[in-house]
Amino acid sequence: MSKGTFYITTPIYYPSDKLHIGHAYTTVAADAIARFKKLTGYDVYFLTGSDEHGQKIERTAKEKGKTPQEYVDKIVAGFKHLWAELNVDYNDFIRTTEERHKKVVKTFFQQLYEQGDIYKSSYKGWYCTPCETFFTEYQLEEGKCPDCGREVELLEEESYFFRMSKYADRWLKFIEENPDFIQPDTRRNEMVSFVKQGLEDLCVSRTTFDWGIRVPFDPKHVVYVWVDALTNYISALGYGSDNDQLYQKYWPANVHLVGKDIMRFHTIIWPIMLMALNLPLPKKVVGHGWLLLEGGKMSKSKGNVVDPLVLIDKYGADAVRYYLLRELPFGSDGYYSEEALAKRINNDLANDYGNLLSRTASMLVKYQQGVLQKPQPQGELDEELINLALETPKVVEDYMNKLQISAAAEAIGKLVARANKYLEETAPWSLAKDEAQAERLNTVLYNVIEVMRFATVMLTPFMPNIPEKVWPQMGIEDKPELHSWESLRWGQIPAGTVVQRGEVLFPRIDLSKL
Ligand code: ME8
Ligand code: MG
Repeated sequence: MSKGTFYITTPIYYPSDKLHIGHAYTTVAADAIARFKKLTGYDVYFLTGSDEHGQKIERTAKEKGKTPQEYVDKIVAGFKHLWAELNVDYNDFIRTTEERHKKVVKTFFQQLYEQGDIYKSSYKGWYCTPCETFFTEYQLEEGKCPDCGREVELLEEESYFFRMSKYADRWLKFIEENPDFIQPDTRRNEMVSFVKQGLEDLCVSRTTFDWGIRVPFDPKHVVYVWVDALTNYISALGYGSDNDQLYQKYWPANVHLVGKDIMRFHTIIWPIMLMALNLPLPKKVVGHGWLLLEGGKMSKSKGNVVDPLVLIDKYGADAVRYYLLRELPFGSDGYYSEEALAKRINNDLANDYGNLLSRTASMLVKYQQGVLQKPQPQGELDEELINLALETPKVVEDYMNKLQISAAAEAIGKLVARANKYLEETAPWSLAKDEAQAERLNTVLYNVIEVMRFATVMLTPFMPNIPEKVWPQMGIEDKPELHSWESLRWGQIPAGTVVQRGEVLFPRIDLSKL
């Protein structure tokens, strides 16, 4: 029984260059949430894609001696390859150069024009091509782009404008009535003060380049790339076509997950476009922080990037995913370093999680030929562990619903750490020396294996490859009923299950070699 639908999206990235681990962070976070919602009983739709039009792409392609389409085709193939390597399980990948998308953008634009929300005027302003964003003189910082610090160009051209200003009051009222729409709260406050300073109409067409979607009623113009891009969230669902079941079923989105750099587009422009067309607004826009390098923000336009493929090759997809998800606290920035990545793997995955299985499995094999017996009545120490195991899924679910992914991972880590401590406290290696303690020994090892099962089920959305390694070692690979969220009730592993020693889940990394 489905608990309802859940539609989650990532930004559609610019195929101006390869993706770096900052982009991987957003997409892996969305994937972990999508997987988690699926695990807990929702009917999930997860969308990602590529934002292929605009002046920047046109220029980059030209520099490389290619047509824009040839250029983006190659880069987008690289996006899909990266997501496959990272085990990202999206339902659809939308490309803004696809016909299904272009049709919707044209209809949208036409409709806004016909109802008088788009008008022709002339534009004079400063344009930052790497950011594909217009700025007024007043918004510039020392004459440069306030977002990326690069040169801007003065543009004067005939353009179409979208009457955003007309919707400012309606937007403010909406935010007041839906205070959770923009998350985290600090971001909401920034957006509200931005709108309160006075919202200007938005320039939504360009005539100085070609690589875009033509304005249907004036083909000299191409549609502003952000208006084009934002529409992906519904064009991918078949909005406005004969085949719009996905739109009917999944819109409005539950979460647009984006970086804090593009909050303004998602929380002001996009909702106002939808308001103008009387369409339902997404339920939430969540802006996460940046993954920084010591030298500042990683960005394609600065060229200081870390290639996730290199890391996956070295450490495996699960470890890279876990690091990203664990490292960035909700909404805040975090620093990337390979040393921090290696330490996370060693501490959380090798020493705690992996070791819990390997030490318990080897004791089981050594003392009981791997066979689990029915556990005996539990004492205080056992109850404490069991209660923590039983509480943790609820805690994890609460955090995941609030998109506090790192806190959710931390809560699972606490349970794993508690189980390791329990082994120290109960000392099964001493129990094994006394024949009379055989039942007690079995109970302790049973409890730890059961915790391992809880932890593994909960960690699967973070590290989708672990079940295929862990379940066979635990002797339950052919028991899917023990892998589900509903199975997180105590004492489900049946007596007679045979645990085996297997490959080390996460080999320790030698920090001195980094
Ligand atoms: O903005 N840390 O595409 P984009 C964390 N095409 N996240 C980062 C990051 C970093 N250092 N760098 C990038 C665009 N990101 C538009 C989006 S959506 C309708 C159109 C992530 O290729 C983060 O999610 O510049 C950010 O918002 C996104 O990549 C920007 O990707
Ligand atoms: Mg960008």
